[in-house]
Amino acid sequence: MKLGIIGTNWITVQFVQAAEATGAFTLAAVYSRRQETAQHFVDETHDAAIYTDLEAFFASPIDVVYIASPNGLHAGQAIAALKAGKHAIVEKPMVTDAHQLAALEAAQANYPDHMVFEAARQVYDPNFAVIKDYVAAHRSALIGATLTYAKYSSRYDAYLAGKDPNIFSPRFGGGALMDLGVYSVYVAVGWFGMPQHVVYLPDVLKSGVDGSGVASLTYDFGNVTLLMGKNYTTQAPSEIYFGKTTLAFGPTGVLDNVHTFGETAQSLSQPQAKSPMADEAAFFAKALTTGDRQAAATAFALAKQVHTVMSDLRATTDIRFNTDPE
Ligand SMILES: NC(=O)c1ccc[n+]([C@@H]2O[C@H](COP(=O)([O-])OP(=O)(O)OC[C@H]3O[C@@H](n4cnc5c(N)ncnc54)[C@H](OP(=O)(O)O)[C@@H]3O)[C@@H](O)[C@H]2O)c1
Repeated sequence: MKLGIIGTNWITVQFVQAAEATGAFTLAAVYSRRQETAQHFVDETHDAAIYTDLEAFFASPIDVVYIASPNGLHAGQAIAALKAGKHAIVEKPMVTDAHQLAALEAAQANYPDHMVFEAARQVYDPNFAVIKDYVAAHRSALIGATLTYAKYSSRYDAYLAGKDPNIFSPRFGGGALMDLGVYSVYVAVGWFGMPQHVVYLPDVLKSGVDGSGVASLTYDFGNVTLLMGKNYTTQAPSEIYFGKTTLAFGPTGVLDNVHTFGETAQSLSQPQAKSPMADEAAFFAKALTTGDRQAAATAFALAKQVHTVMSDLRATTDIRFNTDPE
């Protein structure tokens, strides 16, 4: 399949490498706002057609578009891809508000021959399934969890120096919840299902988005607390509590070192791929090459639940994005 890309930062280089390693994708088209940036990207990867006009890019003979633009642009670009007859692989967060989610879902229904995937990479890590199975097998003992992902961002230095990086700006839906919290919401919904009640307590920066925050998800079995931040780093593990036994692992975006302690102590970690994007790329390749719409629909259904919770969490705060509807 011919792959086109939007967004020319390091994450796209990593995705192109992982996608091409599957053998199912070849980079064919690069969109950038600037010719020189696209040229630099092509030089770093390999030859491909360059576009600085989005319409021309979407009209080009590509099969799949990988979208790694600023968050608030994802949904509109994914819808444009579907309308142009392409499949779309959209970086997290796939949408930044409930209206975008509804519009993307409607477009997906109108263009059923083309698939939309959210690049929620840790869902495809084998340890995601290990933890999911453990939770399902021990559900009756489950009483709560603490899920962590906080990493000091180099762009926070730029923000403090008076610059306005997208990820610390409300312009395109930045902030800790949208950037890192989404990983924790993904695993919470993926393992425990939809919460009954949610609340988010953000530490709001002067720019208007959250530098860090704590979310609480209430379930019938107890509470799940999410710690997220882009202005500090934590090594606090993620933990799921089953009374006498605790299941622990690394940050929700990494899912390493899965083990239990307490009444039973065992390591449950599966070997992880070298590239953090290899597993998702393999999943997208298989679903697309075999036309597995059910796999795409199942992944989209989880994404829909996740972004419903994301939107409900933000609704408990004063954080507003420029891309929100009036
Ligand atoms: N899955 C992961 O592990 C992972 C890791 C990092 C990032 N991400 C996701 O990837 C996406 C991109 O992240 P990033 O940090 O690369 O974001 P970014 O640097 O703010 O922007 C990404 C790209 O969008 C274009 N862009 C920048 N500002 C723009 C503007 N004002 N209007 C239109 N286009 C603009 C730029 O490409 P051109 O200059 O070429 O147009 C840039 O390379 C985000 O959604 C993020 O959540 C995922």
